[in-house]
Amino acid sequence: MNVLVTGGAGYIGSHIVKMLLEDNNHVITLDNLSKGHREAVVGGEFIKGDLNNIQELKNIIQTKKIEGVIHLAADSLVGESMQNPEKYYRNNVCNGLNLLAAMQDCGVDKLVFSSTAAVYGEPEKVPIAEDHPTRPTNTYGDSKLFFEKIMHRYHQIHGLKYVSLRYFNAAGADLSGKIGEAHNPETHLIPIVLQKALGQRDNLAIFGDDYATADGSCVRDYIHVSDLASAHGLALKALQQGKEKAIYNLGNGEGYSVKEVIETAREVTGLPIEAKIADRRAGDPAVLIASSVKIKEELHWEPKYPELEKIISSAWQWHRKGGFSENG
Ligand code: UFG
Repeated sequence: MNVLVTGGAGYIGSHIVKMLLEDNNHVITLDNLSKGHREAVVGGEFIKGDLNNIQELKNIIQTKKIEGVIHLAADSLVGESMQNPEKYYRNNVCNGLNLLAAMQDCGVDKLVFSSTAAVYGEPEKVPIAEDHPTRPTNTYGDSKLFFEKIMHRYHQIHGLKYVSLRYFNAAGADLSGKIGEAHNPETHLIPIVLQKALGQRDNLAIFGDDYATADGSCVRDYIHVSDLASAHGLALKALQQGKEKAIYNLGNGEGYSVKEVIETAREVTGLPIEAKIADRRAGDPAVLIASSVKIKEELHWEPKYPELEKIISSAWQWHRKGGFSENG
């Protein structure tokens, strides 16, 4: 299949591109490299470009004979989304509309969309299933939920076929050691813990130890990035086989606290990794755990690396090697 991956030079996108290539697809990565890395795209064709240019999108879809699209290009920092909402609505919603317009114009009707657990907001109960109320508590979550609603209407009105994948906490790195997580600035827990282990940062803060959880720190559902990638492959195949639309959560259904993550990282690295308790971070729910029963049942998705230890050791292999050479 000829697949366009927007945001394919990013952390999750690059793992999806690698998986699609291994599955014998012809892959065209479109990325403006505002946050992605050219080196992260391990094969296929690469185009540096932006979703704000509909004509360019149409040219790519036509000349490359695109049959399906995986759309990841987006801004994705919760904190930033509450300081600069326009950036999030413009990039994640308006630019997404450009992609839909170009697809429609060129007769491409299959879309896999990168969504987030942030669409749920503060959970009423865990594990969170797809029919849980969606009440985002930040602009990032809004922007992804708006796009889900847009896809739903385009399905009804224009016949768009789509799968929206709501990720919980993506972590880890491809076992080849060639690609992994390299955000700048880094805000995610596991890379920060490993940077502290490597002496690349002075402080590691546990944001709050007074939550209503077993050890007082926040609980999250970590999912290996390669397991996320495989779900995109299955979603695309389901659309090819006639699936009309679906929304799926992606997590392991298992929660780990911030303290447990740090403790596991100590075991994996054999290093002390000192951490200090700090204030809560605004907007953090105490517990986020996915129910991924639906995607297991309907698409037969099975995570290969559900264990936290495996997730952290794959990330450790990547961070210890020094990430991409372009950013050290
Ligand atoms: N944390 C710390 N110290 C740090 C960094 C994080 O204690 O230095 C804590 C956070 O407070 C949180 C947990 O570690 O409790 C995980 O934090 P991350 O920033 O790694 O991930 P989040 O759960 O905040 O964010 C993830 C995705 C977002 C998505 C969000 C949905 O990365 O894209 O889930 O709620 F929006």
